[in-house]
This record gives sequence, structure tokens and C-alpha cells, in this order.
Amino acid sequence: MNKKTVLSGVQPTGDLHLGNYLGAIKNFAKMQNENDCLFCVVDLHAITIFQDPLELRNNTYETTAAYLACGIDPKKSIIFNQSQVPGHAELAWILNCICRVGWLNRMTQFKEKSGKNSENMSSGLFTYPTLMAADILLYKATHVPVGSDQKQHLELTRDIAQKFNNDYKSENFFPLPEPYIEKDISRVMSLRDGNSKMSKSDPSDYSRINLKDDQDTIVKKIKKSKTADTTIPISDDQINKIPEVSNLFNIFVGVTGLTKSELLSKYAGQNFSNFKSDLSDALIEKVCPIGNEVTKLMQDKKYLNQIMYEGAMKAREKSAIVLKDVYDIIGFVKQ
Ligand code: TYM
Repeated sequence: MNKKTVLSGVQPTGDLHLGNYLGAIKNFAKMQNENDCLFCVVDLHAITIFQDPLELRNNTYETTAAYLACGIDPKKSIIFNQSQVPGHAELAWILNCICRVGWLNRMTQFKEKSGKNSENMSSGLFTYPTLMAADILLYKATHVPVGSDQKQHLELTRDIAQKFNNDYKSENFFPLPEPYIEKDISRVMSLRDGNSKMSKSDPSDYSRINLKDDQDTIVKKIKKSKTADTTIPISDDQINKIPEVSNLFNIFVGVTGLTKSELLSKYAGQNFSNFKSDLSDALIEKVCPIGNEVTKLMQDKKYLNQIMYEGAMKAREKSAIVLKDVYDIIGFVKQ
């Protein structure tokens, strides 16, 4: 059977958090044993909103280090930095000519990010999803592990792939990629508000667990996390009625692998203090070794540069084959 091709990316725009880990990066490491995997640090996406150059460079190293610290093995997967592989920007231009303005107008993430200020956003932020489609289609990736906030972008990628195949009468040239989204932890919510997504851009650091948080910080954040005035609910249905509680249960499941019913049989009817203390312990066990490893790897930029360089070379080679075919299909003169 053919191996699947898996591609995903993370923006180097600030501290990575538990949502990035549970929703996406944890699955990257899981998928690398049985598939051809490419994991990209998407700096071209990051600059759709202004980034301080020094911070961008530092965050690019840190995201690469986080990939490694979360178990992505450069011997099994291609780890690379998007701007080091020119094919991403080249294919993005072509896909901009396939994608319809009406399709982009429907993208909820652009609306969320631009708010009432859309006229003043970069045009790159508006066409961001076509660059994401290019990331995926440049390697003919078939599976894309992401959090559920990226689902709409994946649907758009499929539409773009389909339209390219139809317009150029190249049936099945681009595969229609499938999102790989894990139920329950595909949208980790803020610790302060169970109706908003855990996010790098939330002004309150208490809303999220960062992968670099130390033990004390994790304990404090979980202690302060919003729950309910009642004791712990006794059924799944009741849990689901309180978004903050449901979120903590999902996080607990995500970091331990225990099921919700196992957790319920242990904590139902109790107050939240034991639950929170055990959840903090589980988080410390999972998150702190990652943070420590990132700190260690950040001391060795030479090694990180080498990982990025080797990954970029492999990604360039793979992408050049697809891009050459694309140029041929659309009628560019061959050299
Ligand atoms: P980014 O950098 O915002 O987030 C990286 C990954 O983390 C997931 N994620 C979450 N999952 C669960 N709960 C949360 N609270 C949460 N917050 C973030 C995101 O869904 C994502 O999977 N556009 C993408 C990056 C990208 C990409 C790609 C992804 C560029 N090209 C190609 C896949 C394939 C983004 O902004 O992710």
C-alpha cells in the first residue's frame, strides 16, 4: 500500500501553547512512523501580520526546537523552514490565480483577525489560505494534521486543488487532502473562558499553558482556571454543559490518554481541588520536559541550522518535481 504524505505547519509567532501541542504537534510525532511526513515552520505566513525581525528569527528557531522536543525525528520526517523553500511562494502565486475572491471572502479566520479593520490589513493576510494550500499541494500531501480552526482552510485547499485539476483537465493531478483532526482536543479552549480558543494572542497569560511554563506557573494557572460553582459533574452530558469544565476534562484526557469515563469514575461528585492538583501533575509531567528540551536546544543554533538546512534541501528536491509538472501543465515555456 502507498504511504500517505503528511504535511503540516506552525507559525513562528510567539510561545507555543498546549492547544498547538494537543491539537496538532502531538499528532505530527504520532504520524511520522507510518507516513512520509513534512513539518514546516511557516514564516511566510507569520509576516502577514508585522513581526519584529529579531523576534521572528528567534521564534523560528524556537518552533524548530519545539518540533524536535515534541518527538519529531529528523531522520523520519522532513523538518524545514518555509522561506528556505522557494516553491511555496511560487506555487502560492499560481494558486492565487485559481482561487476565487468569493472563496477568500468566506474565510472566518480573516474576519476574526481583521475585525472591523479589514481595509487596513495586509493583502497577504487575505490571501493567506492560498499560501497554505500551496504548502500542502506542493508535496501532493494527502493528510494534514491540524486543530479544528484550520478546517475551513483545508476545505478551501480541496476546492483549489479540484478547480486546478478541472481547469487544466489534469484529473487527479493534485490529490484532495484530508484534514486529520482529533475529536475533543481539536479545539483547546482558554482556561479563563471556555467559549474562546486557547491562543497566543490572548492578552492574559493565565488563559493558556505555554510549552515553556515551569512547574509553579502550571500549578498557579490550573488553580486559577475557571470551573463551576458546583462539584464535579457526574455524567458526560453534565460536563458538556459547562464549557470550562469540559475543556479541563478534554485537556486531562489529551495529556494522560485516560478516557473521560475513567476520570469521571475517579472525580465525579468531588470538589475541584484533587482534580486540579492531579491535572497539574499530569501537565507538568508532559509539558516541562518539552520546555526544558527547547531551552537546551536553543543553546545550540548550529544544530538547529543544520536541521533546517538538511530539511530544506530535501523539501526543495521534492517540491521541484511537483512545481515542474505544474509549470508544464499551465503552459509556461520549459527551459
Ligand atoms: P497556527 O500556527 O495558528 O497553529 C498551529 C497548529 O496548532 C493548532 N491550534 C490549536 N489546536 C487546538 N486548540 C487550540 N486552541 C489551537 N490553537 C492552535 C492549529 O490548528 C494548527 O494546526 N495556518 C496554520 C499554519 C499553516 C499550516 C499550513 C497548517 C500554514 N500552512 C499547512 C497545516 C498545513 C496556522 O496558522 O496554525
